[in-house]
Amino acid sequence: MDFFNYRHQQLFAEDVAVKDIITQYGTPAYIYSRSTLERHWHAFNDAFGDHPHLICFAVKSNSNIALLNIMARLGSGFDIVSQGELERVLVAGGDASKVVFSGVAKSHSEIARALEVGIRCFNVESVAELYRINEVAGEMGKVAPISLRVNPDVDAHTHPYISTGLKENKFGISVDKAREVYRLAKALPNLNIVGMDCHIGSQLTELQPFLDATDRLIILMEQLKEDGITLHHLDLGGGLGVPYQSETPPHPTEYVSALLEKLQSYPTLEIILEPGRAITANAGILITKVEYLKQNEDRNFAIVDTGMNDMIRPALYEAYMQIIEVDQSLNRPNAIYDVVGPICETSDFLGKQRQLAIAENDLIAVRSAGAYGATMSSTYNSRPQAIEIMVDGKQFHLIKSRASFADLWRLEQLLP
Ligand code: LLP
Repeated sequence: MDFFNYRHQQLFAEDVAVKDIITQYGTPAYIYSRSTLERHWHAFNDAFGDHPHLICFAVKSNSNIALLNIMARLGSGFDIVSQGELERVLVAGGDASKVVFSGVAKSHSEIARALEVGIRCFNVESVAELYRINEVAGEMGKVAPISLRVNPDVDAHTHPYISTGLKENKFGISVDKAREVYRLAKALPNLNIVGMDCHIGSQLTELQPFLDATDRLIILMEQLKEDGITLHHLDLGGGLGVPYQSETPPHPTEYVSALLEKLQSYPTLEIILEPGRAITANAGILITKVEYLKQNEDRNFAIVDTGMNDMIRPALYEAYMQIIEVDQSLNRPNAIYDVVGPICETSDFLGKQRQLAIAENDLIAVRSAGAYGATMSSTYNSRPQAIEIMVDGKQFHLIKSRASFADLWRLEQLLP
């Protein structure tokens, strides 16, 4: 559920007409809804009831500091994958002791900074990383809290580019090797084993793969007990899907209650989840203006003022994103369009074969754009990125300004 609805044929974000925001700030623009973000976060958090848990919002899905600040105010934790994300969380008022650090390539300095600010846990992805964390912690006279990211070899039934829990993927430590690696971790002096984690993929639309992964982790957890290793938490990653088109993913409540049922005999084990998309995707839309309508022999094109530079998901994963008119009262003729961007690439499209009632200069909205939109954007073709706006009831706030052209080359230098 989100708060982007039509009122008298005008698209609203909460209590603000999208048209009014664009009159003030122009296009392209991401518009987020604070109420939607809060509702989605609570859907996860409240589903746990009294069971010890922590929701660690996956920063990669949307890392605008205003949005992170909303999460921080809710008491959220954060799942990060770089020092850049860590610094964003801190600037946004996030609590370092609620940060888990995932990612396959943690550098010496990233590990040192995370230890310095006192994160909750390193989600370790390899034996080499385990040794490195042990070494950095030793140099700093600290003990690093760690979890091993176990790759449970479960098929997430999602797009291959966003599937992460199969043997062939680069992520985590194989479930068959994990016990041995835990023993090694126990023997290293500057590590404290606190948990186990996994993340099997993104945009999952069924529960079974999550439950299968949980089963495998429980078996491993029991084996670890025999080795004298007791865990404080189990982190099942992110991955719950959202409806972009006709998908019917499970509701967070359904997901969490299925998990808690499986984990009945572990009432004190803290459960961590790292949802990104399920919190942010449907809390954002991307507004773009139709520059031209163009026809060739067999296609109509709506050429708009943003494309793969601001929203790369259709180009990269052939992802379907719903596209709707901002003002439906204009009585434009209906036609079928390929909605394409200004970028000089054939893959630069937002949607193909979409029925729309539009004319030049009209506004259209790409729905479900709050996750992996702004965070994956670039200035390709030297186009300043879309601005970002947070709507909060009747108010709206600019949370990312439009770069000037000079900003585009601010870090570049002419030759002497
Ligand atoms: N935790 C870890 C360790 C992850 O790698 C990810 C996402 C998440 C949590 C959050 O997953 P979510 O709840 O958002 O599914 N750019 C792609 C998605 C890539 C996801 C990468 N990892 C897309 O636009 O579909």
